[in-house]
Amino acid sequence: MLVVITDTIEQGHQTAASLVGQAIKKNPTLRLGLAAGNTSIGLYQSLVALHRSMHLDFSAVEFFSLDEFIGLPSGSSMSYEAFFHQHLFRHVNADPAHVHLLKGEPQGDIISYCDSYERLIHDQGGIDVQLLGIGINGHLAFNEPMSSFRSRTRMCLLSTDTREKLSQTFNETKVPERAVTMGLGTIGEAQTLLMLAFGKEKAKPIARAIEGPLTAEIPASSIQLHQNVVVILDPAAARGLKYKSYYQQQSSHLSMLLPRNLM
Ligand code: GLP
Repeated sequence: MLVVITDTIEQGHQTAASLVGQAIKKNPTLRLGLAAGNTSIGLYQSLVALHRSMHLDFSAVEFFSLDEFIGLPSGSSMSYEAFFHQHLFRHVNADPAHVHLLKGEPQGDIISYCDSYERLIHDQGGIDVQLLGIGINGHLAFNEPMSSFRSRTRMCLLSTDTREKLSQTFNETKVPERAVTMGLGTIGEAQTLLMLAFGKEKAKPIARAIEGPLTAEIPASSIQLHQNVVVILDPAAARGLKYKSYYQQQSSHLSMLLPRNLM
C-alpha cells in the first residue's frame, strides 16, 4: 500500500487529480469508479481545472458510481447522481452514454438490478481506477461495519453512525434508511484503488483501516488485501499512523512506486 501524506488538503486533491489525469491520458477509455462525499469535491474541482487548462479529455472515459441512496424524493439534490452532475459532469466533456450511475429507484426488483450493475461492470472489462473515501465508522462506499469482505452490489441499511453524520448535510430532507452500494468484493476487483481522507475526524478510521487488523468491523481494512492501493491523506488524517516515516519515504519516491495505470 502506498500512503501519501500531503502538506495540505488542497495538495491532496491536486495529487489525486494529477494521478487520475495521468491515468486518463495513458488510457483515454479508462473505466473510472467515482466516490461521492465532501472529501471528493476538491478532487473533482481539480479534475475540472485540468480539463480547462490542459484539455484533459473525458469523452471516452467510462464512469461508474459506488453507491446511491434509496428513498429520496425524485430529483432530490441530495442524491449522489445530483452530486456527480454538480461537481463533475456539468463541467467536463463526459459522454452521457458512458456514465453508469447506480440508481436509488430502479425499475423492477432491486436484486436483479444490482446483479445487472455487476454484469455491466464485468462486461465493460472491470474498473481500472476506483476512487474511495472512508466513513468515520470505517465504512467503504455504504458497506457498513460487518459487511462481508466478499459482498457484491446490493441494497443495504445505513447504520445509526452514518445516518447521524449525514443529518449534518441533509437539513430538512429526511436521511434515507437504505442505499445501494457496490460490495467490498466488487470494489476489491478494481485494478487500482485511490482512497482519499482528510481532517482529524478521519484519523481513527484511517489508522484502523491501514494499520489495524483486517476486520469486518472496519470495512475499509479490506483494502489491505488489494495489490494496488494509493491512499492520500493530509497530516490531520494521518495523525494516528505508526509508520508515518516510512510513508514519507515512499512519498519522496512516488513516481517509481505507483501502480502501472497511474504512472
Ligand atoms: C459517504 C459515502 C462514502 C464516502 C464516505 C465519506 O457516506 N457513502 O462513499 O466515502 O461516506 O464521506 P465524506 O467524504 O463526506 O466524509
